[in-house]
Amino acid sequence: MCGIVGYTGSKPALPFLIDGLTTLEYRGYDSAGVELETPDGLLQVKCKGRVAALADLCSRLSRKNAEAPCGIAHTRWATHGEPSDKNAHPHQDCTGNVAVVHNGIIENYQALVAELEAAGHTMASDTDSEVIAHLIEQALAGDAEGDLLLAVQLATSRLVGSWALAVLYADAPGTIVCARQGSPLVLASTDAGAYAASDVTALAGVTNHVINLDDGQLARLSLDGTIEVFESDLSPVDQPDAFDIDWDASAATMGGYPDFMAKEIAEQPEAIERLLKDRLGPDGVRLDELAMTDEEIAAIDRIFIVACGTSYHVGLIARPLIEEWARIPVAVEPASEFNYEDVLVTDHTLCIIITQSGETADTLASARKMHAAGAKVLAVTNVIGSSAAREADGVLYVQAGPEVSVASTKAYTAQMVAAELIALFLAQRNGNLGAREVARRFHELQRVPAMIREVLHRSWQDEAAARAFVESSSALFLGRGLNATTAAEGALKLKEISYLHAEAYPAGEMKHGPIALIDPGFPVVVICPDDRVRYKTLSNIQEVKARGATVVTVATDGDQKTAQLSDYLLLVPAAPEYLVPIVAVVHLQMLARYVALARGCDIDKPRNLAKSVTVE
Ligand code: F6R
Repeated sequence: MCGIVGYTGSKPALPFLIDGLTTLEYRGYDSAGVELETPDGLLQVKCKGRVAALADLCSRLSRKNAEAPCGIAHTRWATHGEPSDKNAHPHQDCTGNVAVVHNGIIENYQALVAELEAAGHTMASDTDSEVIAHLIEQALAGDAEGDLLLAVQLATSRLVGSWALAVLYADAPGTIVCARQGSPLVLASTDAGAYAASDVTALAGVTNHVINLDDGQLARLSLDGTIEVFESDLSPVDQPDAFDIDWDASAATMGGYPDFMAKEIAEQPEAIERLLKDRLGPDGVRLDELAMTDEEIAAIDRIFIVACGTSYHVGLIARPLIEEWARIPVAVEPASEFNYEDVLVTDHTLCIIITQSGETADTLASARKMHAAGAKVLAVTNVIGSSAAREADGVLYVQAGPEVSVASTKAYTAQMVAAELIALFLAQRNGNLGAREVARRFHELQRVPAMIREVLHRSWQDEAAARAFVESSSALFLGRGLNATTAAEGALKLKEISYLHAEAYPAGEMKHGPIALIDPGFPVVVICPDDRVRYKTLSNIQEVKARGATVVTVATDGDQKTAQLSDYLLLVPAAPEYLVPIVAVVHLQMLARYVALARGCDIDKPRNLAKSVTVE
């Protein structure tokens, strides 16, 4: 949450800063700001609202100021202090000579505020971040003796919490000092200058070689494009962690679609094809990324899958598959809960973290906890070089390409495919599934992109069904087995982008409470494919229908019985049970989008949310 960018070089900084913030806006979008180093000193422009509002303000800057070659900028997701002009970043010290943008949370800020105020500093905002500017000011005037790098090191040594920082100091022209602890920050050195950003997407148009700042490290960016990286004791890092970006900038543009969510929904078949490519060899499914020997796999006594939100739903889908195919017990936990549980871990426990962004703070904390307890950690993620990827023992990239819309779509389906690959791989390597059966299931998995393409052609069904929700303030989603999770994911998509209350329930549990919600016209979405529990689910449809519900059903092609009972049908091609969740959810993604459009909501940037939840 919160996106930061910085540039110092031979070009005007503002175009990159605004473009970079626009790209990072999915990380937070309640206020935005920029600090430029002009010939007359630091100049700040910031406001409540979107980056577009900031860009509008900046368009009124004088040419001299707009062409400043060094600057930092921020787009905010509020943690401490309401979204407002004064709480927008950058934050300055008392002199106005130091400016800071921050992503993260300073947990001890109240004690620091008290200390700073007692020393004569005045806080201009309600944020936790502002203390950093004042601590730097104090250090510059004290032990750092005007040395910005040393001042940032001294200031950050006082902080408890997480931070990615970019700092300007009027007396160090052309210099940006960055620091990282627990929040992501990447850097790029080019002939045109040096860049900093919260993630690679903002740098994709600038370079394909990126330096990753590690936790505890600091960096100094200079006007000539050089970047010096330092450890927390300021000893130089000769070879900072670096990697190449293999996403082109166009992947993060809308490419003619009305919104990123529409584009990302449409990209699902290609994303899955990429992930499956070259995965079946003569010895079965190839997942070299897992970096585990046959002996280690055979010895796994338990798997914990830990994730948040939509990625947690992937874990719920993976659990029965791994248990059924590989016969290994699996526990699935939301990371925010898992971190405070006393879990049973042995040397043979495997932890799988699933995280699209690779930066979700709770999920990373779980991985660290499991590492410390002796478990091996495997990350399933979409973002190359993300913290999850770097910290895990093995990483499986789902290769869905940049996912910009806050509501996760293509990463969800790609992660489900990755989870099925892992289940197959474990089953084959520990001897529970023979090579032929593994190959057969893999070939079934290869049919998924075509099935999703078919569903995408049926978007008119979702557009029609959206009418059932427009007058409603609530909806119920029902499903059984794996599709209880599909229901949960459908409800999550609907609530996050349309702001309609939506509740998901295992269909059989409905009569133990939620059925009381049903009155005439109440929308109920039922996932009722042709599977082993279809007849049971049909009974649940009858029950809600008898109470006047408007029923929207995800059903298999040709299912006349279900068609008769439903007000709206969302049809999917016939598929094995374990593939249905990957295909059926595409309808629910499109349905949520159409409902949100009808209700006039911002599809890609729903209120109060951020794409990367980097605070616990
Ligand atoms: C919902 C959504 C969120 C994320 C969750 C975890 O559409 O996107 O629920 O799934 O914040 O994010 P990652 O997967 O990046 O760890």
